Amino acid sequence: MPKEVELSNVESQIKELRERIQQANYAYFVLDHPEMTDFAYDQLFKTLQTLESKYPNFISPESPTQRVGANPLDQFSQKQHRQPMLSLQNTYNQEEVLAFNERVKKKLHEQSTFEKENLAYFCEPKFDGLAVELIYEKGKLVTALTRGDGVIGEDVTSQIRTIRSVPLILPDFTQHALLELRGEVIIFKSDFFKLNQAQEEQGLLHFANPRNAAAGSLRQLDPRITAQRPLRMFCYAPGTYDGEPIKSQSDFMEKIKSYGLPSLTVTTLKDLKLRTQSHPFPWQKGLACLCQNIEEAVEYYTLIEKIRHQLPFEIDGVVIKVNLFSQQKELGQISRSPRWATAAKFKPEQAQTKIKNIIVQVGRTGALTPVAIMEPVKVGGVKVTQATLHNQEEIQRKDIRVGDTVLIHRAGDVIPEVVEVLTAFRESNSQAFHMPKNCPSCSEPVVQMEGEVISRCVNPNCPAVLSESLKHFVSKKALNMDKIGEKLIEKLIERKRLTRMSDFFRLSETDLKELERQGERSVQNTLKSIQASQQTTLSRFIYALGIRFVGESTAVSLANHFGTVDKLLQTHREELLSIPDIGPKVADSILRTITKKSFIQEIEDLLSLGVKPIQPILSGTKTLKNLQIVITGTLPLDRDQVKHLILQHGGKSTSSVSKKTSFVLAGETPGSKADKALELGIPVIGWEDFQKKLNLAKKITN
Ligand code: IVH
Repeated sequence: MPKEVELSNVESQIKELRERIQQANYAYFVLDHPEMTDFAYDQLFKTLQTLESKYPNFISPESPTQRVGANPLDQFSQKQHRQPMLSLQNTYNQEEVLAFNERVKKKLHEQSTFEKENLAYFCEPKFDGLAVELIYEKGKLVTALTRGDGVIGEDVTSQIRTIRSVPLILPDFTQHALLELRGEVIIFKSDFFKLNQAQEEQGLLHFANPRNAAAGSLRQLDPRITAQRPLRMFCYAPGTYDGEPIKSQSDFMEKIKSYGLPSLTVTTLKDLKLRTQSHPFPWQKGLACLCQNIEEAVEYYTLIEKIRHQLPFEIDGVVIKVNLFSQQKELGQISRSPRWATAAKFKPEQAQTKIKNIIVQVGRTGALTPVAIMEPVKVGGVKVTQATLHNQEEIQRKDIRVGDTVLIHRAGDVIPEVVEVLTAFRESNSQAFHMPKNCPSCSEPVVQMEGEVISRCVNPNCPAVLSESLKHFVSKKALNMDKIGEKLIEKLIERKRLTRMSDFFRLSETDLKELERQGERSVQNTLKSIQASQQTTLSRFIYALGIRFVGESTAVSLANHFGTVDKLLQTHREELLSIPDIGPKVADSILRTITKKSFIQEIEDLLSLGVKPIQPILSGTKTLKNLQIVITGTLPLDRDQVKHLILQHGGKSTSSVSKKTSFVLAGETPGSKADKALELGIPVIGWEDFQKKLNLAKKITN
């Protein structure tokens, strides 16, 4: 093949890969509906990386491989917004929203262009995050600024570039040589919990709520840290732009969606009303609405308030905007807020209660967590009796004491937290709370590591640490012994039947029968559930071992890299550091653990007692070379995984059956494709035969 042809092939292949990756990012981060597995995504990414390293001339700053810049900044530089970023005037109830509408109408009448009573409003949730401006020049993302004081913001371009849903390049820039957009950077509630868990595990300060977590993550001088944080962005307003004028907010939303920019889907009020009746509310199908008049806007406000807790992100109200940009222009602004919009806020969901006691719990890593036991109270419709107080520093900062009357809310809508102490109600004899100097479980002295806010029990034999580690070992994402509950573990520890992980596999019928309330049937079920857990995957096994900082996804990376337990045990620091997602802190923790004699012994015991961690190995043969395969029906693996398998083995998967099709791979309930194949005399094979063809080896460790 001539060199130029080959190069143009490579270039179009690179372009296609980049577009597919961006589409996948959109599906994952904006629609919250992944269209491929992580595995398939990684494969695409790796293919792109390989091609780019082979043809470095094609690397450009807009490639998804170039999202994370290498150099931390000394400080953020400041830049002026072309147009100031305004704030919104608040309204707090229906009457105030109606009054806002009256003001709008009056002003439009004064301007004398407004005749008809029909005044359409575009309504959206009010994201509780932080406002950011994106600037695209000739379709490329060149700058991103925080709101700052509204006039001057901070340049957070390298940080924003790490947010995968923010496109680095727009497909069709010819429409706008300049396009500025405003939107909100947020963290989903579920991501916020995971982030806080990780922060606390590492002895770092937790974030009070998703907004603080988003702000703290965006304002990292080192974009590599921002890249590890689960930030998302949703765009909701234009700044300065050139090219064809846009008429209204609803047109704007439609337009930016067609550019692949992250934004909410627009729907009708009727559709929204219908969908709010299903639980959980399918927000992805449409959450912003064009309302024909203020009454509809009020209805929108009421509807969204009802389903706010079902949304994956926090909102504190809805934003009601005059839809037509021409009317917005006529209305103008007063001081720093536009006259054409209002933030209709929800009532804050807080409740007052009394702290009956403060207890201290010991976690799997020995971390001591103070927990407030409170008089039961309802917050956002849910009964709350406990609130985590996080650590001594937090208790001191808020000066929380036993007997205090406090205001509580649910951080990220779920975890109950003390907002503040109502000191007016404090009893005169109340005393400040101090974390114990000794472990409440084993009474050994606790230690506080340098730079950590958390105190820990470091006694390896502490019963509380043991019990938490064993609960982790059997938990759903670990070995998944579904018949073993917390109570059973505690009783078995008490009776010295459980002293370490491998003891689960030494439990006998008699051990279990001795326990009260364990009848014959339940003893058999417990034993079965232990036995079933022996067949597990390598990543679950690694996760179950409870190595500090090795969560689910790190365990998957380790399993993929090593393939067997033995190889993991023989690793060294450099090798660990070469694995994606593993930094020095995690590597050191792994090394510290896997070099301990007792740990190695425990693994040997687990394996010799019948635990079989399996790593499915996908061999990269060329068995399917030049074959065109059509998939139909439901297969045991996800579609994308199967397509990748085919690719890996040199085949090609196509969507429709033709004479060129080599065979059809049919899963359960195959579609018409199988019939067509039979008509054309093309072989149809099932999953089993396909596996045989690939000789899909499952390799067993040791
Ligand atoms: S439109 C003129 N739409 O609310 C302001 N703002 O108090 C145009 N916000 O700084 C903003 N969700 O950070 C708009 N759907 C939404 C919003 C939204 C949250 C924030 C934004 C702004 C603040 C104003």
